[in-house]
Amino acid sequence: MSTAATTTAGTAGDTPVFSVGGLWKVFGPKADRVPGDPELTALGPAELRSRTGCTAAVRDVSFDVRKGEVFVVMGLSGSGKSTLVRCLTRLIEPTAGTIAIDGEDVRAMDGARLRELRRHRAAMVFQHFGLLPHRTVLDNVAYGLQIQGVGKAERRERAAEVVAKVGLEGMEQRRPAQLSGGQRQRVGLARALAVDPEVLLFDEPFSALDPLIRRDMQEEVVRLHREEGRTMVFITHDLQEALKLGDRIALMRDGRVVQLGTPEEIVGSPADDYVRAFVRDVPREQVMTVRTAMRPAASAEEADGGPAVRPDATVSEAIEAVARAGGPARVMEQGRCLGVVDSAALLDVVAGVAGMTGVAGAAAPARRREPTPTPAAVSEEPV
Ligand SMILES: Nc1ncnc2c1ncn2[C@@H]1O[C@H](COP(=O)(O)OP(=O)(O)OP(=O)(O)O)[C@@H](O)[C@H]1O
Ligand SMILES: [Mg+2]
Repeated sequence: MSTAATTTAGTAGDTPVFSVGGLWKVFGPKADRVPGDPELTALGPAELRSRTGCTAAVRDVSFDVRKGEVFVVMGLSGSGKSTLVRCLTRLIEPTAGTIAIDGEDVRAMDGARLRELRRHRAAMVFQHFGLLPHRTVLDNVAYGLQIQGVGKAERRERAAEVVAKVGLEGMEQRRPAQLSGGQRQRVGLARALAVDPEVLLFDEPFSALDPLIRRDMQEEVVRLHREEGRTMVFITHDLQEALKLGDRIALMRDGRVVQLGTPEEIVGSPADDYVRAFVRDVPREQVMTVRTAMRPAASAEEADGGPAVRPDATVSEAIEAVARAGGPARVMEQGRCLGVVDSAALLDVVAGVAGMTGVAGAAAPARRREPTPTPAAVSEEPV
């Protein structure tokens, strides 16, 4: 999401929040031997299981999470998403590879340092809320601060602030059983926010919610991110959610990351047939930006006239502008005309004739996509 806080995300010289290299998690007997054995690593999941009894839940995964970005990990059930994210703070012990947070080696941390990491620096929001049933909303939110040893008055004050921030004002004294599913998830979110972590880790937090409440919560995340620019790692198996929230998406299959890119890169240039099938039904005009369809202005008049659109406007927005004006639109950035888009080029993008293979597309920066209505073509259901 390129908000004011995040347009600078990932600029050269920034230490990534998380840096993961060659990470493996293998479950099963003598799991350690698998990552270093070329014969075993060449096997597919079923063969590996029958030969060794092991499951490679995460296979040789490398990526950086940049400061201020929403990094989405997406994939079907069993593709390794939860295992991967739990490895980041060693809730699951990795089998091989490197993990650093702000440049510090997570695998070398002792117990005390790890607790500090989990309590202060990387807070997790789970699918099943994990609320304490006998405590009030306020005390549930203050719980993480209590564990940190923050005094009662201070933690209540901080908790009250965060409760208001997630829209639960007036419900401080209720117990979890007196809340709807969406409200409970807000409590879970507030509890993670209360400790003011550097990074929030979400493991499919909204998948138990019905579609409307789920959309509300997605917008809540977008809003919080816009206001605070907090780094987030967000797991989902829902493509629509991934496209809506992610600055970048890592698409997993059988423990591997098969593609890592912006939503526009993933939809516009799928890395293989698997990804292509995954994104086939995405309405391209809502994800692709006008950069993809842009051409140089043919004349001075063309560069001077016509409606203006931003380079990160969606193709769908540009189609509207072009239709209203009855002619090409100028792509304007800080008073400068970068090029023009016309209806033919925009429709080529919609049809998938023009993609991200051009230089302009490859250079497209992360951008904030405004919340769009759920397209009928993309299911809210697990894919
Ligand atoms: N403790 C474990 N022991 C053995 N295998 C495990 C263990 N935990 C996970 N696995 C296996 O590792 C693979 C990845 O599991 P993981 O829970 O990471 O998937 P996921 O992508 O989060 O799936 P979902 O969308 O269903 O939550 C699966 O094949 C799973 O069966
Ligand atoms: Mg999972």
